[in-house]
Amino acid sequence: MDSTTVVARLEISPGMEETMLRKIEQLRPAESIELACERDLRALLGRLQESHGAYFDSWQLEIGPPVWRMRITRRDPQVARTIADFLGKDHQRLRDTWAAGRYAAADCNLKEVRKAFSEFVVGLTLHMRMEEEVLFPAIEQRTGMRDSGPTAAMRAEHTRFKEILGRLTRALEEESCEAISRMLQSEPTTPEDLFNSHDLREERVLYPMADRLITSDEKLRLIAAMQRL
Ligand SMILES: [Fe+2]
Ligand SMILES: [Fe+2]
Repeated sequence: MDSTTVVARLEISPGMEETMLRKIEQLRPAESIELACERDLRALLGRLQESHGAYFDSWQLEIGPPVWRMRITRRDPQVARTIADFLGKDHQRLRDTWAAGRYAAADCNLKEVRKAFSEFVVGLTLHMRMEEEVLFPAIEQRTGMRDSGPTAAMRAEHTRFKEILGRLTRALEEESCEAISRMLQSEPTTPEDLFNSHDLREERVLYPMADRLITSDEKLRLIAAMQRL
């Protein structure tokens, strides 16, 4: 499961940014805070990046309107800021979120099913955008390989994932456990098997390759850009 501890879940209103920034700064390594707001929280994230650079990881859990939710985690400063660390953590978080949705579906806990799978759809959609819009172009620029090679293979698999997310979103709109179970059972290949195999190849081949090709300063810039998507 996720190795970070969520120490607070807070609903914030406009004007509370200063208080929130202080609370976030007080987090200890591996501690997280979840914020919910009636407006986009990325402006707050921008301020955090300006003052603290790479000290925090952030993951969007819900994209409004009406509500935006984001988890912010203080990183362990001893762990080097790498592509493998940043995106590998997101893989783990998404695996945990998917598993939570599966367990809730087995128990027919519709509220939890909707929460977990909605977070998964938001999270995986953003994860693929981080790779396709920021990481892959940076790799391709350095290798000269765009239409073949590892990034092309990963892009092709993303197309398949987007189709699965479309079917999952439609099933969630039916608001019944049966619709979700039916969707999961009718998939030609178990979705988690597809996701896991893809993640493994990125973690073993693509991310280490990116970490070798990209300088430390450029990595910080790319990670900040991925967080702002
Ligand atoms: Fe990917
Ligand atoms: Fe990935």
